[in-house]
Amino acid sequence: MSAVRRCIALGAALSALVAAGGAAAQAPLPKAEYLAANCANCHGTNGKSVGGMASLAGYPKAEFIQAMKDFQSGKREATLMHQISKGYTDAQIEAMAEYFAAQKN
Ligand code: HEC
Repeated sequence: MSAVRRCIALGAALSALVAAGGAAAQAPLPKAEYLAANCANCHGTNGKSVGGMASLAGYPKAEFIQAMKDFQSGKREATLMHQISKGYTDAQIEAMAEYFAAQKN
């Protein structure tokens, strides 16, 4: 499957998950894969960037968590990542950190 089609498939899976979990306040934490799909538009499918954007695939876990925390606090300069990083809890960031660190770049 092409990267674009995989991206679309992930997006569809995410929509289905959101639709299914609408009323579920106690829904389990979404799989890291679904969280990571939110980053694919800019950082590439599974964090593998094909453009000039930074790849997240293979990003060391601790550095990823630190980068997200620094974006959240504003310590690290950003154009977009301040807003994006604030949409995630510590647990979600940790789940994404594990997911991206495990992707081969
Ligand atoms: C709309 C585009 C966009 C999306 C979506 C996006 N990012 Fe980013 N990301 C950026 C840009 C642009 C930068 C460079 C910093 C800046 O200007 O905000 C960046 C930088 C980063 C960096 C630092 C990379 C480095 O150079 O070390 C990390 C980590 C990161 N993003 C994680 C994420 C995660 C996790 C998601 C999904 C939850 C995500 N990004 C979604 C645009 C995006």
